Amino acid sequence: MKSSCVLLIALVALAAYYVYIPLPSSLSDPWKLMLLDATFRGAQQVSHLIHSLGLSHHLIALNFIIVSFGKKSAWSSAQVNVTDTDFDGVEVRVFEASPKPQELMRRSVVYIHGGGWALASAKIKYYDELCTVMAEELNAVIVSIEYRLVPNVYFPEQIHDIVRATKYFLQPEVLQKYKVDPDRIGISGDSAGGNLAAALGQQFAQDANLRNKLKLQALIYPVLQALDFNTPSYQQNVNMPILPRYVMVKYWLDYLKGNHDFVQAMIVNNHTSLDAEEAVAPRARLDWTSLLPASITKNYQPVMQTKGNARIVQEIPQLLDARSSPLIADQEVLLHLPKTYILTCEHDVLRDDGVMYAKRLESAGVEVTLDHFEDGFHGCIIFTSWPTNFSVGIRTRDSYIKWLDQNL
Ligand SMILES: *[C@@H]1O[C@H](CO)[C@@H](O)[C@H](O)[C@H]1NC(C)=O
Ligand SMILES: *[C@@H]1O[C@H](CO)[C@@H](O)[C@H](O)[C@H]1NC(C)=O
Ligand SMILES: *[C@@H]1O[C@H](CO)[C@@H](O)[C@H](O)[C@H]1NC(C)=O
Repeated sequence: MKSSCVLLIALVALAAYYVYIPLPSSLSDPWKLMLLDATFRGAQQVSHLIHSLGLSHHLIALNFIIVSFGKKSAWSSAQVNVTDTDFDGVEVRVFEASPKPQELMRRSVVYIHGGGWALASAKIKYYDELCTVMAEELNAVIVSIEYRLVPNVYFPEQIHDIVRATKYFLQPEVLQKYKVDPDRIGISGDSAGGNLAAALGQQFAQDANLRNKLKLQALIYPVLQALDFNTPSYQQNVNMPILPRYVMVKYWLDYLKGNHDFVQAMIVNNHTSLDAEEAVAPRARLDWTSLLPASITKNYQPVMQTKGNARIVQEIPQLLDARSSPLIADQEVLLHLPKTYILTCEHDVLRDDGVMYAKRLESAGVEVTLDHFEDGFHGCIIFTSWPTNFSVGIRTRDSYIKWLDQNL
């Protein structure tokens, strides 16, 4: 009896030790976030174990765990029809709201889910639910793209998939079939999906035939640059769930097919040091001492190494490519972009990527809405249903959909 009691206390203590992480009290529902984070960390550790046993790639194992938590097959209700099909060979899930009697043509959003270019799916319940609510509340057609993921494909294949599917959708006869108004179509995505949406926006902006096809872009805590992992938000949120800095750097290396041995060097910005000559000009595009307001920069120092490791950008030149880091694109590209919404969260390494992009777009003359959430964390917009329901999840989703409703 006594010994089992001791064992129980030890187990509870161990579990508490695994789950507990110090979090700022300004976060939405911090205890729930600890549990969510512990679950995700546990899944990551199991995946690494599977990888080291030689059974499967850790990202495939992790995605298997994520998808088995809740994949939904296509379904229908009185309000929305959900269909799985393909657009020019790229899988998509289409959410169609029933047309209102007085409405001939509907609005539409092409949506790109997040997950570090390697995880999640348009078919998991989190994204299925977000797109359903969007379809219902906007009375719209939402096309959620099931692009291929790392490690099956790497940069720039993910971009090719979303460009191919979007171009197919934009054909007049396809829009006609879905009863979509060609003048009221937007592109959107969260996290790595926001990165791909921004890359698509810039690719379309450079093509006179596609330039005016999209009415707006809406980027939810997008990933926008791989050159500086010491922006104030990276420094402030180094260990913040569910996206600590080292995890983000690993997603980058996986996407660009780089060597994981570079993680520690990139965390100290050794890949964009002054002696890595190729990196100096692109790095200057994201000088955050000028792109961020003093309220953000005041307690932080830039990390710019004089001597680093020039081999990293020589081995992974994609790090300096504007298609992977849309934040460093030329002003001549940015000025052709449509009206833009950017959602940022205070407790997110990527906050400043979004704030800097808003600033660069504004300087290029683009109309930008920056929607900031003081108690938000990375990923919150999909966490709206019990048991992973967060108050900030619902508020970010409402605010995002409200902006779409007013601007699309
Ligand atoms: C869904 O599709 C079915 C069959 O095509 C149709 O009868 C129904 O009206 C559709 N519902 C909506 C909400 O569009
Ligand atoms: C960064 O580069 C410097 C100079 O080459 C080197 O001394 C240092 O160990 C590097 N840091 C990391 C974490 O790789
Ligand atoms: C989550 O959902 C449960 C059950 O619907 C509810 O009681 C709880 O207040 C919700 N929590 C948050 C943070 O929204």
